[in-house]
Amino acid sequence: MMKETKEATPDLKSAKSPKTTADFAKYFQPPSLKDAKKRGKEEIQVHYDFVIPEDMQGIGKGKRYHVRTYGCQMNEHDSETISGILQQMGYTSTDEVEDADVILFNTCAIRENAEDKVFGELGHMKRLKNNNPNLILGVCGCMSQEEKVVNKILKSYTQVDLIFGTHNIHRLPELLRDAMFSKEMVIEVWSKEGDIVENMPKLREGNTKGWVNIMYGCDKFCTYCIVPYTRGKERSRRPEDVIAEVRDLARQGFKEIMLLGQNVNAYGKDFEDIQYGFGDLLDEIRKIDIPRIRFTTSHPRDFDDHLIEVLAHGGNLVEQIHLPVQSGSTEVLKRMARKYTREHYLELVRKIKAAIPNASLSSDIIVGFPGETDEQFEETISMVEEVRYDFAYTFIYSPREGTPAAVMEDNVPMEVKKQRLYRLNEVLGRISLEQNKKLQDQVLEVLVEGESKNNPDVLAGRTRTNKLVHFTGDKSLIGQYVHVKINDAKTWTLHGEIVTKVEV
Ligand code: 5AD
Ligand code: SF4
Repeated sequence: MMKETKEATPDLKSAKSPKTTADFAKYFQPPSLKDAKKRGKEEIQVHYDFVIPEDMQGIGKGKRYHVRTYGCQMNEHDSETISGILQQMGYTSTDEVEDADVILFNTCAIRENAEDKVFGELGHMKRLKNNNPNLILGVCGCMSQEEKVVNKILKSYTQVDLIFGTHNIHRLPELLRDAMFSKEMVIEVWSKEGDIVENMPKLREGNTKGWVNIMYGCDKFCTYCIVPYTRGKERSRRPEDVIAEVRDLARQGFKEIMLLGQNVNAYGKDFEDIQYGFGDLLDEIRKIDIPRIRFTTSHPRDFDDHLIEVLAHGGNLVEQIHLPVQSGSTEVLKRMARKYTREHYLELVRKIKAAIPNASLSSDIIVGFPGETDEQFEETISMVEEVRYDFAYTFIYSPREGTPAAVMEDNVPMEVKKQRLYRLNEVLGRISLEQNKKLQDQVLEVLVEGESKNNPDVLAGRTRTNKLVHFTGDKSLIGQYVHVKINDAKTWTLHGEIVTKVEV
């Protein structure tokens, strides 16, 4: 059972690291994916007493920070917390690394190319560090949970001053202090998940769209995925804490909330004192005065009938569901340990579409999983044709050391993987265009998000189903709802003109 505690956060395993890997082991436990894999029955404590130590509160006065975020929305949201903490310490943010006194890379470990990008950028930071020896360069996020990454940084990226893990964000003030006053690299990475720390400050961008974490970690252990190791076991925030945060954002005038979790459908499964699941949570949140509520990511296995029933109420629960399928082949799904079959997934889609009119589905799909045959890939294509996704993120399988799939024989040549990805994207593009054409001449409710990336004279916004819409209008509309008549439907964007402003 979780309970409130006034005790200090757990003891530190931090240490100042010497420069060699051999010495390094003497001083502290390096992160271990093996330890991170263990799932214990320990109680998760919830801490409500986060404070920045008094002596750290003004330490950033007159100084600037730059946080660079890689990867998923969970990381984006963690960066909001990191920024919130830094601002409470007196720092102000800068977009320019050249002006920064503290640079933090919040990293992603999901695929190799994500990691390569971070190492490349870290290399570029050496020059800044040479110019400004007082600069603090830190690495956090999922990569810092990996033993091999920490060792590589120790060996070859000595410009780094600080490494901290995904379970150590609340320790940032103390870690920054250590890094400032130490000549050696400061490393604090807990391999096992920590407690839930509530009440950390968050610096949200604007007040239109807000992220709210409902749970941390993942217990699914899909064989290709490193997340259960880097993010630890599933820990749900207490419903009252989630609801209070959403209410607070409603009071501040936020127009859209995205509920976040690696597997939101498992929400509440770890509560021992109450029977309370994701459907129950959404049923309460939908009564809060926020025009749109989204959530990500869903695992098909835990998507239950109660949840579908609640979503069928519509209203502020938008009819867009991200439901990663990964593969259309039952055989491949089995090797991925996804714990559902093609038929089970299609049945779930049928139920969702029957209960939720105009439901728009999106997906994540991996091609070239070890042993994937041409026929099995064709099953993914036919799955896409059957479900008719509006959108999907598509990936070539990337082996992650320490995961079960990394030791499976990978007999699909890279050339074939690339062809499969190309073909899949072609089919997805065609279907998306067909779906978008159906919206031609319709008037849609659009939340105006900002200027279009390529043309500042054009506004960009999103429909309830998360489709990107471009139209001309006054910048004062940013952050508001408008009605847009669609007069040109392209593959990934809709173009139209404002009909009226909507009061939502
Ligand atoms: N290789 C390729 N794609 C991956 N994903 C997760 N792990 C890997 C990997 N090793 C994809 C999955 C997941 C999304 C967030 O990233 O599709 O849903
Ligand atoms: Fe990774 Fe699977 Fe968990 Fe998603 S559900 S985070 S793909 S292990």
